[in-house]
Amino acid sequence: MTLFYPWAKGLKVEEIEAFYQSFRFPDGHRFFDWKHAETGAEVLKAQHPEFELWSQGVHARSGVSCADCHMPYQRVGAMKISDHWVRSPLLNVANACQVCHRFPEEELRARATAIQDRNYQLLQRAGQALLGLLDAVKAAKASGATEAQLAAVLELQRRAQWRLDFVAAENSMGFHAPQEAARILGEAIDEARQGQIAAMAWRAAASQPATPP
Ligand code: HEC
Ligand code: HEC
Repeated sequence: MTLFYPWAKGLKVEEIEAFYQSFRFPDGHRFFDWKHAETGAEVLKAQHPEFELWSQGVHARSGVSCADCHMPYQRVGAMKISDHWVRSPLLNVANACQVCHRFPEEELRARATAIQDRNYQLLQRAGQALLGLLDAVKAAKASGATEAQLAAVLELQRRAQWRLDFVAAENSMGFHAPQEAARILGEAIDEARQGQIAAMAWRAAASQPATPP
């Protein structure tokens, strides 16, 4: 298959998902990157969506580009050149941030790490929620549920896991668009728990004694 960008419907997480949903393999089957070994769900893999997440943040909105932060200008003798050592801007706050933000270095670094710490906490919660869904599916399967019967649950796994992965595979730990990252993880947690509840309900029903005729 030739390489493609999944951007035909837009750059937001649900727009990329909608594109994948409509994309067909040559045999007519809808797109998936891999099948989950334990549940059988057809899941998607986010491929380092830095550009996509950045596009939803206030820096993009204000016209601040990747290079403004990651390749800031510096003076070398009489010349002004861009830094080609593409690295964490937090190692170079003076050139990367203070040209626009007139705050001390420590304050700017603290703002960035506060965003990242909150994102990390929410990411861990989303991971726990997804594990809850996976365990509930395993238990439902053990009590006799088939993948066809669990189709709606596996769809929730695909949605939740796509969202979790979108933020986890993005390397700024939420910094590029904090509120958008939180929105995506909020949806991931909700969908994972919805799937978990549905799988647990299936198992509870399966363990009831057969109703007498
Ligand atoms: C407003 C400044 C800013 C802009 C604009 C920005 N970034 Fe970042 N980026 C950061 C910060 C801050 C981090 C977190 C660095 C850290 O945790 O040490 C980061 C992290 C990253 C990382 C992980 C780097 C590492 O060392 O782990 C990548 C990759 C990245 N950004 C790519 C991009 C791309 C691609 C764009 C444009 C589409 C972009 N960034 C736009 C500030 C920015
Ligand atoms: C080219 C200018 C520019 C650069 C470089 C820049 N910023 Fe910004 N930053 C802005 C603008 C503009 C805003 C939006 C302010 C507003 O609209 O109120 C902003 C907003 C922010 C916010 C609020 C974020 C939010 O989502 O609400 C933080 C935190 C921030 N910047 C930190 C940084 C850090 C850390 C760096 C360096 C890694 C950096 N900025 C580099 C221009 C810049």
